[in-house]
This record gives sequence, C-alpha cells and structure tokens, in this order.
Amino acid sequence: MAENTKTAKLTIDGKEYELPIHSPSAGPDVIDIRKLYAQAGVFTYDPGFTSTASCDSTITFIDGDKGELLHRGYPIDQLASKSHFLEVAFTLLYGYLPSADELEKFESLVTNHTMIHEQMHYFFRGFRRDAHPMATMVGVVGAMSAFYHDSTDINDQHQREVASIRLIAKMPTIAAMAYKYSIGQPFVYPRNDLDYASNFLHMCFAVPAEEYQVNPILARAMDRIFTLHADHEQNASTSTVRLASSSGANPFACIAAGIACLWGPAHGGANQACLEMLREIGTVDRIPEYIARAKDKSDPFRLMGFGHRVYKNFDPRAKVMKESADEVLALLGIENNPTLQVAKELERIALEDPYFAEKKLYPNVDFYSGIILDAMGFPTSMFTPIFALARTVGWISQWKEQLADPQLKIGRPRQLYLGDTARDYVNIEDR
Ligand code: ACO
Repeated sequence: MAENTKTAKLTIDGKEYELPIHSPSAGPDVIDIRKLYAQAGVFTYDPGFTSTASCDSTITFIDGDKGELLHRGYPIDQLASKSHFLEVAFTLLYGYLPSADELEKFESLVTNHTMIHEQMHYFFRGFRRDAHPMATMVGVVGAMSAFYHDSTDINDQHQREVASIRLIAKMPTIAAMAYKYSIGQPFVYPRNDLDYASNFLHMCFAVPAEEYQVNPILARAMDRIFTLHADHEQNASTSTVRLASSSGANPFACIAAGIACLWGPAHGGANQACLEMLREIGTVDRIPEYIARAKDKSDPFRLMGFGHRVYKNFDPRAKVMKESADEVLALLGIENNPTLQVAKELERIALEDPYFAEKKLYPNVDFYSGIILDAMGFPTSMFTPIFALARTVGWISQWKEQLADPQLKIGRPRQLYLGDTARDYVNIEDR
C-alpha cells in the first residue's frame, strides 16, 4: 500500500481522531478506518458498500464517470479488438502481457486440462433433467473439491496454480455439460485442437449424429463476449469469492459461491432478464409503456441491462457489445431481428429521457450480449452460465491476489443493530 501523507479528521463528542488517507494509482483517495473502532469505539455504516474499499488490488480499474475499464492498465476496448480471451486471462492472472512463448505454454496448459473427471458425469445425472444450468454449475463446481483433493491446499503455491488452471480450463466443459443435460443431449467431450471459444461452441452445439463446423466469426464473437466479462473489480460475485476465501475455504468452494451470487438478476442474471424483457416488449410501439413503468416508483419493474453501481456513463463493454451484435446478426443475415430493433430504439428513447439522464442510467454490458447469444443459438438459461465461465478468470485472479496479501484477514462486517435488547425468555404457556 502506498505511503500516506494526507489525513482526515473526525470529531466525535468533541474528541478528534486522525485517520490516514491512502492515495491510489488511479481513482479516489481512501480513508483508512481500520483502527477506528479500537480508537473511537464506533463503526462505519455503508450497506451495499457504496463508499467502502474492501481491499487493495492491482488487477482492474474502473472510472465510472469516464466509462473507463482497464485490466492491468490495458483499456478493455483495446483488449477486445486486439487481444483474445486466453491472453487477457494470462494478463489478469500474472499482471503483464505474455511473450509469444509464455502465451503458447499457457494456452497449451489450459487446453490440456479441459476434460473433467469421468466420475463427475454421474454427478450431473443426479440433477432434474430440466434444472437451470446455473443450478447445476453451482453444484458441480462446488463438487470439484470432492474430486480434486490434490489442489485444495490454499497454503501450497503449486496447488493454488493447479486449481486456477483446472477451473479456467474446465469451466467451459462444465457449462456445456450443464446445457446438454438440460436439453437431453449427450455430453460432447472437449476437443484440444480447437481454441477456447470454438471448443465451447463445439461442446454446446455438436451432436454425435452429424458433423459440426464452428463458424470462425461466431467463435471470435464468443471469445469477445468472454473477454468483455473476464473481470470487473470488486463487484458482488467477486466480493463473494473474496469473502468466502477469507475464511480459508478451498478454491472450488469459493468459485461456487461466486457463481451463486452471479446468478441474481441484479448481477449476472441481468442478461437473461434483459432479453426476456426485450421479447416481452416485442415491438417498438410498446416501448413508451415500459419506459413509464421503469419510472413509476410504485412499480418494481426496472429496465434490465440499464444502470450500474459504478458506471455513471456508458459501460465501455456495452459499446463493444453493440458493435459485435451488429456484426453477428449481419453475418447470420438477421440484421432486421425485431429484438435488436427494440433494443436500439429502447436505448435511444431512454437516453433522451430526463429520468435516465438525471440518474445517469446507461446501457450496461448485458444490454446487447443476450441478443448476440440468442442469435448464436443459446437459450436464455445459458446466458448467465456463459458469464460465469468468463468471469472465472477474474474470480481466480482476485482470489490469488487476496491469498498473497499479507494483510489478509477473515472478512467480518459489523452491523447497526436495531433489534430488541436483552429480555427474559417467556415460557410458551405464558405468552
Ligand atoms: N431502471 C429504472 N430505474 C433504475 C434502474 C433501471 N434499470 N437502475 C436504477 N434505477 C433508479 C433507481 O430506482 C434509483 O432511483 P431513486 O434514486 O429515485 O430511488 C436510482 O436509479 C439509483 O438506483 P440504485 O438501485 O440505488 O443503484 P444501484 O447502484 O444500487 O443499482 C443496479 C445498480 C443494481 C445495476 C441497478 O441499476 C439495476 O437494477 N439495473 C437493472 C439490472 C441490471 O441491468 N443489472 C446488471 C448490472 S451489470 C452486471 O452485473 C454485469
């Protein structure tokens, strides 16, 4: 952590406390309150952690007002156009762009760990056939700790590395198997002659009865979706992974916790919810009705794919995603797709509406991703699993960073207690 030269002064009941201020390499200064309770006997209150930095990190930086996203300093639009997912994965994990030799070794390492233990196939069969693939993923990823005992010791550097590679390599296999199981088709084994994205498409869409050729343009679009979801600083699921890991839990259990958190519609589940909303709107003439509902405080409806805790400007990932949607739909000859038309018109109308402008609500990464995934042939239930498989590298990078941090403590927030104070138990016959 950088040396602090500035301090903040806090006065409580006439007594003054001096708090150190740390200056980051980018972003706002941070007031260090770690000793506040010991010195002043008070907690701070910040539900939803809107003003709280939970850790220091060198992985990802977001400037929400500018709409900037950097991984290890590299802007996301450059990574999305010039790099590819496994190179971004290496960069997130190790902190720098790999040399050609390092990249080749990393890609071959990941590629050689794509199969899952054969016995895990039985685990899939225990789920109801119509289980949501996210439900299956939470269970199966958690169960990896039962199969890969040799990489669960978090104090062993080598085991941490093995677990990281296993998770990044096997997550597409697990997501594809969860999908195949949910539609009653046989599992398709990974193919190590294919790149990461093509292999995933193959495992999802190939069937034993006929030859399946991966379209390289769709594979590129898939890879870009993975890249755009790879990491996003201390969001809800990443913080869940860090909190789970702070107790010393094994990596597979921590990532399963991250998947569970990601599933929620306010987070990773928004891509599914967004496409369902666009389909429900159906035609451009119904947009005003939905805009009115989104603005109505008595209606719980929100425009899915709009708004973000950190971005108060365009989500830079949404811009790339929109271009990708245009490319993929043109390639497939469905550029007049009614859902895309509704999305574009909804975006236009919302951005001109003072309600959204005042609250700085802009399209987020999920606004266009569902349209691309739908055009590729994925059902909505697969949208969040795809997000989870891409985010695994971010979770792992953050998990590794946390374990290497000498300041690591078990995460244990405090509370503002508003319940009853101590009172005597009353026997049931006397109540
Ligand atoms: N539609 C309508 N109004 C909205 C929306 C929306 N999508 N998002 C926020 N608002 C309004 C809120 O009602 C609130 O209004 P108020 O100040 O009058 O009470 C104000 O904007 C601020 O919203 P909060 O919920 O306080 O903002 P927060 O930072 O807590 O929430 C969130 C961010 C959860 C992403 C929210 O914008 C949302 O629910 N969006 C829709 C779901 C979505 O797209 N999630 C994906 C996020 S990206 C990701 O996880 C990859």
